[in-house]
Amino acid sequence: MSSHDIPEENLPAEQDTAHGAVTVADEENPFADPGLPPHEHRVQDIDEQAARRSERTVAMLFTVSMLATLGFIASYVTIPTDKSIFVFPIGHLSAMNFALGLTLGVALFAIGAGAVHWARTLMSDMEIADERHPVEASPEVKTKVLADFKQGARESQLGRRKLIRNTMFGALALFPLSGVMLLRDLGPLPGTKLRHTLWSKGKLLVNMNTNEPLRPSDVAVGSLTFAKPEGLEENNEDFQTEIAKAALMIVRLQPDNIKDKRELEWSHQGIVAFSKICTHVGCPISLYEQQTHHVLCPCHQSTFDLSDGARVIFGPAGHALPQLRIGVNADGYLEALGDFEEPVGPAFWERG
Ligand code: FES
Repeated sequence: MSSHDIPEENLPAEQDTAHGAVTVADEENPFADPGLPPHEHRVQDIDEQAARRSERTVAMLFTVSMLATLGFIASYVTIPTDKSIFVFPIGHLSAMNFALGLTLGVALFAIGAGAVHWARTLMSDMEIADERHPVEASPEVKTKVLADFKQGARESQLGRRKLIRNTMFGALALFPLSGVMLLRDLGPLPGTKLRHTLWSKGKLLVNMNTNEPLRPSDVAVGSLTFAKPEGLEENNEDFQTEIAKAALMIVRLQPDNIKDKRELEWSHQGIVAFSKICTHVGCPISLYEQQTHHVLCPCHQSTFDLSDGARVIFGPAGHALPQLRIGVNADGYLEALGDFEEPVGPAFWERG
C-alpha cells in the first residue's frame, strides 16, 4: 500500500515547509532550484497495524539487547577463563572471550538496529528545507527551533509508544553494566601481600648471578652483590612477583664506617643487606659508589647512604631503604634472621 492508494482526505497533513523554496533560473541566479520532491507517505504513516508491527520490532530489538547484556554478565561470571572452544573457521578460542565478544556485539547491534528501524519507520520522515541564516539566531528562529524540537519530540512518538520508550530505556540502562563488570579485572585487592616477602628466619641468601648460597667471604669490601631468597627459582610461576619484593643488595663496609646503630646490629661483620627496590616508585637500584657508600637509583636519581641506615640524601624517594637483618648459620652461610620489618618499595600503599 502507498499514499497513492489512499484518499487525499485520509492522509496525514503535510507541513508547509516540506517542499522548500522553489526558484526558477534567471540572469541573476542562473541555477534553478527545483525544491524537494513530493513527500511519499510510508505504510506506517497510513496504516496503524503496520505502525504497531514496527513498534513491536523495535521493542524486540531493544529486548534482544537487554538479553545480550545479561548474557555478557552471565558469561563473565560463569565461564572459566581457561576453557577453550572450537569455532569454525577461526579455530580454538577462549570460550569466555568468544562469549563476551558475541554478547557485547549483539547488545550494541540490537540497540543500533532498533534505533535505526524506529527512525526509518515511525519517526517523521518529512524533509524540511531551511535557508542559510546568520550564525547568531534571531529570537524568532530560536522560538521556531524550540517549537520544531517539541514537534520532533511529539513525532518521535516517545510519549505515545510506551513499549519502545520503556524497552529503550531498559536497554540503555543495562548496557553500561558490561563496562562495570570489567572493572572486576582490576582486582583482586592486594590485601597484606605487599607487606610480606619470601624472607624468613633461616632462609639462605643466594647470589642472583651464580645461584649459590653466599658465605661472608664471598662479599668483598667495595663490591655490590645481588641476592634472592633460597628456593626462589626463575622458573617458578610467581618468580617476578616475589623477586620484585625480595630482591636484596649486599655490601660489605668497615664496621667502623657504619654510623647507624641499628644497621650495625643487623649486619654481620660489616656485611649489610638492604632492599634493592627503590622507595620512590620501585625501580631496582643498581649503582654503588664504594668511596661514599652511596647507592643511586637510575630512574630519578634518588641516592641512599648505605653507611647511615640507607637514608635518602638526594632525590624524590620518601624514606630509607628497608634493611634485612642477617647472620650466619652453623654451616657458615649468610642467612636472614626474619622478614623485612617494614614494607619494601614505594610508600604510597603502605599508608593505606
Ligand atoms: S624510582 Fe628510584 S628515584 Fe624514582
